[in-house]
Amino acid sequence: MATYDLVVIGTGPGGYVCAVRAAQLGMKVAVVEKNATLGGTCLNVGCMPSKALLHASEMFEEAAHSFGKMGVSVSAPKLELPAMMNFKQQGIDGNVKGVEFLMKKNKIDVLKGTGKILGTGKVEVSADGKSQVVDTKSIVIATGSDIARLKGIEIDEKRIVSSTGALSLDKVPGKLLIVGAGVIGLELGSVWKRLGAEVIVVEFLDRILPGMDGEIAKQFQRILEKQGFVFKLGAKVAGVENNGKALLAKIEPAAGGAAETLDADVVLVCIGRVPYTDGLGLKEAGVALDNRGRVQIDPHFATSVKGVYAIGDVVAGPMLAHKAEDEGVAVAEIIAGQAGHVNYDVIPGVVYTTPEVSCVGKTEEELKQAGQAYTVGKFPFTANGRSKVNQTTDGFVKILADAKTDRVLGVHIIGREAGEMIHEACVLMEFGGSAEDLARTCHAHPTRSEAIKEAALAVGKRAIHM
Ligand code: FAD
Ligand code: NAI
Repeated sequence: MATYDLVVIGTGPGGYVCAVRAAQLGMKVAVVEKNATLGGTCLNVGCMPSKALLHASEMFEEAAHSFGKMGVSVSAPKLELPAMMNFKQQGIDGNVKGVEFLMKKNKIDVLKGTGKILGTGKVEVSADGKSQVVDTKSIVIATGSDIARLKGIEIDEKRIVSSTGALSLDKVPGKLLIVGAGVIGLELGSVWKRLGAEVIVVEFLDRILPGMDGEIAKQFQRILEKQGFVFKLGAKVAGVENNGKALLAKIEPAAGGAAETLDADVVLVCIGRVPYTDGLGLKEAGVALDNRGRVQIDPHFATSVKGVYAIGDVVAGPMLAHKAEDEGVAVAEIIAGQAGHVNYDVIPGVVYTTPEVSCVGKTEEELKQAGQAYTVGKFPFTANGRSKVNQTTDGFVKILADAKTDRVLGVHIIGREAGEMIHEACVLMEFGGSAEDLARTCHAHPTRSEAIKEAALAVGKRAIHM
């Protein structure tokens, strides 16, 4: 029987990163994966394929609508969807191979099959009707999440799809009805909108992107509406019927009232994700779950069973790949006797649309609710030189700082490349920096990042270009 220091169940960004860090620290490590390829949701049906399609569809859109105004004359671009899907697949394959390489490089055994925890120190791995039991000092559960389903609406991944089906449609839908104005709805809605679909988003709440700063979300909604998105806020989809030709979705106001019917060629259900623990044997092993089905952990990622830890989407916190990765590193270090730690106050979030939306730290709503006195500095991209010359001036930077100490509490950006720009704010906040620190840091000219410096100057009411 094989014996390990650590067995990690699941090879998403949480699991594979944890395995690599543990191997670096001298542990003998195995990963267990039931999917045919490594990399989890993120690499196979999440972050990576969605970003490949976002990039390709943005190029399509730019060629159609932006090249001309820069004096680059091209004939109207023609969409070859199979080739675009092939581009996406090449991206997936490249990244999956990268994880396989990392497993080999770090001498991590890859056990293909479904992992089941038999108790402290024992994992059963089953595939094709055969099973083996491996012994291990520690176990990390990194089994991720699955789509949340809507009662009464069956997902067939062809016409009524989750994100997985929406990443592989074989033709551009005439009308795409999206249930949920969260990250997936807006990213994948952008992809199909750019490729020619009419996009209608039905959202239960009275706003898009719940959890994001309200002012940013409002402006983002306006920008998306300008791009052609139609939002039906404060509404829910009560059922979807297929009349043979079209899908008929029954839309009800969230607060009650008369329903209306909308027709669509494809319905995308993206109302959140739920922790995935099927087949893990947690109940029998005595691993406790919380009231939302997430594996319960203490501040050191330890579950209720000795030697069993959990990280990533399967535990509480934002369902983000980089959060899972950082937890993977931290738990490996803790298991090795070091002081692994994740700072949950500084986890950036990015929506990879055009423009992008990014954030780190507290929103204005959260500060108000906490009764915290704060100052705000804002700077629009319309006043940023680089954005002006490139004619990409949508959006602004918003910095929230402690009114007394000037310490930066939150940074929110809407604009091109906002997802890259947010990281200087992350570093600043990790070091407990102030708006003044940011304002006095030299920023290269001409860059979009100068808008961050100007927003920091605006906290002290002394922005130069506004
Ligand atoms: P996962 O990546 O879900 O991996 C879990 C793995 O465990 C899977 O491979 C699964 O097969 C395996 N597994 C489960 N049970 C068992 C078992 N019993 N035995 C063996 N193996 C098992 N996040 C971002 O930060 N940025 C993005 O841009 C982004 N885009 C996304 C786009 C989409 C469409 C979706 C759906 C998600 C996106 N996410 C994004 C979220 C991100 O994918 C997740 O937060 C991340 O994958 C979580 O990592 P994880 O390691 O916890 O789990
Ligand atoms: P989400 O939680 O971001 O958004 C779901 C939306 O659906 C919410 O606005 C919610 O109010 C709404 N909703 C819920 N029930 C509804 C109903 N019955 N009718 C209408 N609307 C309803 O979830 P989403 O978009 O499915 O994404 C899942 C997870 O994947 C997110 O937690 C996100 O963190 C992660 N993800 C991250 C990405 C990124 O970092 N760029 C990209 C894609 C996904």
